[in-house]
Amino acid sequence: QFYPVILAGGSGERFWPLSRKSKPKQFLTLDDSGFSLIQATVNRLATLPGVSVEDVMIVTGVDHRMQVLQHLPDLPTENLLVEPVARDTAAAVLYAALKIEQLDPDGLMGVFHSDHRVDRPDVFADVVGRAIALASERDVLVTLGIAPTYPSIAYGYIERGEEVGGQQDFPAYRVARFTEKPDAETAAGFLATGRFSWNSGMFIWKVRTILEAFARYQPELLKALRAAVATRGGIRTHYPDLEKISIDYAILEKAENVVVIPAEFGWDDLGDWNALERLLRGHGENVAVGRHVGIDTGGAILYTTDGDDLIATIGLEDVVVVRTAEVTLVVHKDRTQDIKKLVQKIKENP
Ligand code: GDD
Ligand code: MG
Repeated sequence: QFYPVILAGGSGERFWPLSRKSKPKQFLTLDDSGFSLIQATVNRLATLPGVSVEDVMIVTGVDHRMQVLQHLPDLPTENLLVEPVARDTAAAVLYAALKIEQLDPDGLMGVFHSDHRVDRPDVFADVVGRAIALASERDVLVTLGIAPTYPSIAYGYIERGEEVGGQQDFPAYRVARFTEKPDAETAAGFLATGRFSWNSGMFIWKVRTILEAFARYQPELLKALRAAVATRGGIRTHYPDLEKISIDYAILEKAENVVVIPAEFGWDDLGDWNALERLLRGHGENVAVGRHVGIDTGGAILYTTDGDDLIATIGLEDVVVVRTAEVTLVVHKDRTQDIKKLVQKIKENP
């Protein structure tokens, strides 16, 4: 049996003021599908052969528990794993692995983010099916790799080694090296070799295989969380003491049995407001959600939460304007990564 685990603990500052601490990105509906990102993620996974919403596990923070249940009314409540405080993705993944182990020690597990876009769900389903087959045949940690298009410093980089287990549609490769978030120079060097994929953050493995990796590379984390899961109220009391480290640094950079399946399914991690342009496919044109009237305005991204509100502009290039009930944000497209800093400044001078 395959258990998809969705990580939904993001704090959502990069889509401020639309996303808030109380409403991070996974709960936003950014396109016209009518589904929030977390709903779209579950829909995509629940259509995999043999998988239903009853097999999906969600790991989220205590503040977002109710919102997850509101967005996913069909999710059995026991499939919701609640962290009292965020301890990053290594702990979140391990928490889910230990829960699945209790249900089905021979189970397979997939890790997915709650707030990504996937354009071609059919290709996605094929690739995940291929990854499941590979992970059940071998004791490997399967990653899904994306062809890099620029030297981003926001992603992990995966270097392909020799090919393993030849299935023609989606060849898999041993991972020669996994480097989480390199600096720009290193990233550019990686790109130049043509041997690297971006880490999509999606992983497929046997529960047994990932627990063995934790035993080897993060024995303290495993010991502490295993004890917490085994005792009543143990998560609430002991989760805050766990080390805060991402699964990429904790396991994937270290393990030797990592493989990668390069795959193109129209992936986007929707990292900031500029992603709206890719999502809505307006190139060079203005991209507007809500009403916009402009004169001599080009390449702008405009968003109003209330569809009746109008954004009117004259003589602007490459700006992002976001209007919510409480806040109007105006930022140059080149500076959207600094929204985090802005949010920090607002916290300091409320
Ligand atoms: N439950 C839970 N608890 N979820 C968490 C936590 C946590 O403490 N921390 C992060 N998450 C969730 C986020 O909501 C997101 O869906 C996912 O886990 C990844 O966390 P990010 O913080 O967004 O990671 P990142 O973008 O910096 O890097 C990761 O993703 C990239 C692809 O988007 C890495 O895996 C990179 O290697 C990868 O390229
Ligand atoms: Mg991310």
